[in-house]
Amino acid sequence: MKNYFCKENRCILLFLLVLGFSCQPKEKAIGLLAENAIVVSAHPLASKVGKDIIQEGGNAVDAAIAVQMALAVVYPQAGNIGGGGFMVIRESDGQYHSLDYREKAPLAASRDMYIDEKGDALPEKSQNGHLASGVPGSVDGMVKAHEKLGSMEWAKLINPAIRLAEEGFELSENEAAYFTRASENLKKYSSVDPIQFTGKSWKAGDVFKQVQLANTLKLIRDKGRAGFYSGEVADYIVAEMERGGGIISLEDLEKYESTWREPLTGSYKDFNIITMGPPSSGGLIILQMLGIMENYQVSNQGESYAEYLHLKTEMERRIFADRAAFMADSDFYPVPVDELLDDSYLSQRFSNFDPQKATPSDLIMEGKILSMSEETTHFSIVDKEGNAVSCTTTLNGGMGSKVMVDGAGFLLNNEMDDFSIKPGFPNMFGVLGGEANKIEPEKRMLSSMTPTIIEKNNELFMVVGTPGGSTIPTSVFQVVVNVIEFGMGMQEAINEKRFHSQWKPDQISFEKDFERENILETLREKGHELSERNGIGRVDAILVLEDGILEGGADPRGMDAASGY
Ligand code: DON
Repeated sequence: MKNYFCKENRCILLFLLVLGFSCQPKEKAIGLLAENAIVVSAHPLASKVGKDIIQEGGNAVDAAIAVQMALAVVYPQAGNIGGGGFMVIRESDGQYHSLDYREKAPLAASRDMYIDEKGDALPEKSQNGHLASGVPGSVDGMVKAHEKLGSMEWAKLINPAIRLAEEGFELSENEAAYFTRASENLKKYSSVDPIQFTGKSWKAGDVFKQVQLANTLKLIRDKGRAGFYSGEVADYIVAEMERGGGIISLEDLEKYESTWREPLTGSYKDFNIITMGPPSSGGLIILQMLGIMENYQVSNQGESYAEYLHLKTEMERRIFADRAAFMADSDFYPVPVDELLDDSYLSQRFSNFDPQKATPSDLIMEGKILSMSEETTHFSIVDKEGNAVSCTTTLNGGMGSKVMVDGAGFLLNNEMDDFSIKPGFPNMFGVLGGEANKIEPEKRMLSSMTPTIIEKNNELFMVVGTPGGSTIPTSVFQVVVNVIEFGMGMQEAINEKRFHSQWKPDQISFEKDFERENILETLREKGHELSERNGIGRVDAILVLEDGILEGGADPRGMDAASGY
């Protein structure tokens, strides 16, 4: 009896011990803490370039320009001068701006350019090779940002990128493997084999130098806009187009202009959201989701987390249906921004929400499959004065069109695929579109990029954004909710497993190794189809903590890094 009792006691002890261990609060992830300034980007070398610029007296916009250029060198799969992007800026005095340097369709582009004689869509042409590129906007964007808000000499902002291109940088194991894998496509689609990339099988520790790109960057440093949109580099681009059957002309390059737009703003509880409007859908999606969610209590505790994920999915399917129908370049199509954000519209749109059951997407509208390529890049910056920049820039797919401009040494985007190439035909992110986002000369293709800045009680609170195609707005939404509603810090909010859905396909994808099986089970019971996938997005963000210290969160899904002081 005694023995038995002892054994039982031991069992209880063991049980309590195990329980104690498993109930130990998980160690809270904390990002880089800094008093003055932080730059978070997809590459440690680019983050350091930005931080150095601020330490040398530059502001957040100066740092953003230097980071954009540095990423074009050290992160060529997405960092770019051959693509475009969006920058949302908040000055320390509370003024804000948004810069649209999105690519435009070339003058010779036409609505049916990716449809064959049988009426079939030709995604291979909108996604790869010379016809896939829009007219690049990044260089003009950086020049415009500098003219309006820069404080340091332009040349000083380009020099770090030139140095990285000329002297080279050491590849990590992942980078080496990625470059080696990408070589085949670069060879296939470029008109001249870009041997600086393809000439060897890369291994960790190899130094990667880009002589042609260094020369292009010098021309941009010395001549500004003219160093890219006319003269030697423009000639290289047009020659590349002619050799490969593309349509970007000298006139396209001369005419390209990035543009300052009114940022899209909205509020959620005590927070002001400053984000990107059309031609991005990202800002609209975030504001619509927050607008609906304001009427609900959400929590990440226990079963309540499944209720939140159900609510989120139901918002997403309705809003992505809106995206397909109403969102496009507002210079060409009257995007009903005010109507889409109107409270009564949102409550009517959500009136058939059933907290117990998934609404099949087919009841909302028709659509097709999803495929993913994760190569855009986002960076967030706060300088010592409190100026903030949130910038997302892209070639679209990894390595863009896979066309390297011979002589100029940079990759061109494949952004034309973000147009609706045929009504109802999904783009590479599975999102659908119709009339609103049809191809027209000089039009900008609809984006999902969501560079966002948030104020709390009118003070700077968060700078956030991510790559990830159609998952961009939903990743930004989740990280924002993790902080605002679930009380997480920046790094913790970024590390949290993500979920995504987008109306079509009618499913929730969730990141692998999500450990709360009961949450998944509840979602299945409500009628959701679930599918596991690898990392969703790469959020790089900065949070202003209560004592004014900055917390930079770099996404562990990539080699992203924060640098600050
Ligand atoms: O503008 C857009 O929405 C897309 N071109 C972004 C592409 C992207 O994020 C790719 N992957 N990370």
